[in-house]
Amino acid sequence: MEKYVIKGGKKLSGEVVISGAKNAVAAILPAAILSDEPCVIENIPNISDVTIILQIMSEMGANVRMLNKTTVEIDPRTLRNIPVPYEKAKLMRASSYFLGTLLGRFHEAHVSMPGGCDLGDRPIDQHLKCFAALGAAYTIDGGMVNLTADRLVGNQIFFDKNSVGATINGIMAAVKADGLTIIENAAKEPHVVDLANFLNSMGADILGAGTDVVKIRGVKYLRGTNYSVIPDQIEAGTFMAVAAATRSDILIKNVIPKHLEPITQKLVKIGVKVEQFDDAVRVIGGDNYVGTTVKTQPHPGFPTDMQPQMAAVLTCAKGASMVTESIFDNRFRYVDELRRMGANISVEGRVAVIEGVDSLKGAPVKATDLRAGAALIVAALGAEGVSEIYDIYHVERGYENMEEKLRLLGADIEKVDEPDPVASEKKARKAI
Ligand code: EPZ
Repeated sequence: MEKYVIKGGKKLSGEVVISGAKNAVAAILPAAILSDEPCVIENIPNISDVTIILQIMSEMGANVRMLNKTTVEIDPRTLRNIPVPYEKAKLMRASSYFLGTLLGRFHEAHVSMPGGCDLGDRPIDQHLKCFAALGAAYTIDGGMVNLTADRLVGNQIFFDKNSVGATINGIMAAVKADGLTIIENAAKEPHVVDLANFLNSMGADILGAGTDVVKIRGVKYLRGTNYSVIPDQIEAGTFMAVAAATRSDILIKNVIPKHLEPITQKLVKIGVKVEQFDDAVRVIGGDNYVGTTVKTQPHPGFPTDMQPQMAAVLTCAKGASMVTESIFDNRFRYVDELRRMGANISVEGRVAVIEGVDSLKGAPVKATDLRAGAALIVAALGAEGVSEIYDIYHVERGYENMEEKLRLLGADIEKVDEPDPVASEKKARKAI
């Protein structure tokens, strides 16, 4: 079982280059199935979610070829529409995107219910509402979502809930449907825009991505493309939180500053300095931070995927801070782990109240999901003493080479592989 061992309290310095966006590539790779020609996709991060998606596509018969470490060529013409199995689909939420892309291309899809971070209830009712509006019938049988449609016809769809996944799935299902589809109350995240730009570069006709209303006029043919994925604004935000927590001066390169706006504003408000350049931000941590309020919202509000990392910074901000999670039911599972490091946090439903302490102390802690793991890394780097972070597989799902990037900034972090104490005890008992 791998863990990070981090000796905190060190000032960091230097620069870090941000990788391609996990949540953009999680949509763009499956969307390549819609193409009638091979596609080349660049700037893909080397993370386990990407590996799983490419494995699923090649097992379905697509010709998947890594041209270099961050570039993949996908020829979907040989792909067969076989079910996406539970053991793969349960590993990530993005497996739901195979529903939209397979339906869009074959008018049929069979995908196991998606998995992903345990953040509370994560239904797919808005996805199904969208597919049905386009003419698909669905059943859920033995954990498999089955979609079939004689034909897909454009329609007007209003999402009751602002959903990134449902917006992305709706665009993919509609892109080759007959006629015009209008999606209202659409999600506006940068990765929704990136998907639309990718499909439009292949000849799709998508207008309004990034606004509340997305219009998709169905086309018959999608040509190949050579497309580069946007940088990951959540990875960039995480390194901004690292600079704040360690009170360091760090240059974060390969970013789109506009995507970081809500994160920048909150960090500046508590006392962090941020200098913006064309494709980089310089983050200068301060000696004293003041508490603030954070309420997660759909883009362009403060991103829920940065809520745990921001809370980790606020544990050492003077006074009280209040963090409201308005997207997911249960995104405070990391709080217990921060308390083990001396954080003073109380949680009531979707609100966490943080009383700032002078400093956290290193402790053994466990990542409960991807961004919770990121928050523990932020906290451990700023804490006095040594922390051990277990279950780091969560982190490696969404952050490319996290420990190397931190080591290059001067962090004292090591990945250690040690037997799982519970598993080895069971094995020892069996051996007797
Ligand atoms: C995407 O999840 C991201 N995952 C999440 O990132 C991110 O937190 C989330 O969007 C919000 O930005 C990927 O892109 C792979 P939603 P998604 O549909 O699509 C409810 C990370 O850390 N809802 O926008 O699942 C849902 O329960 C991950 O990188 C319905 O009720 O999020 C939630 O409360 C974590 N019915 C809210 O909407 C539906 O049909 C937002 O969910 C769909 C969603």
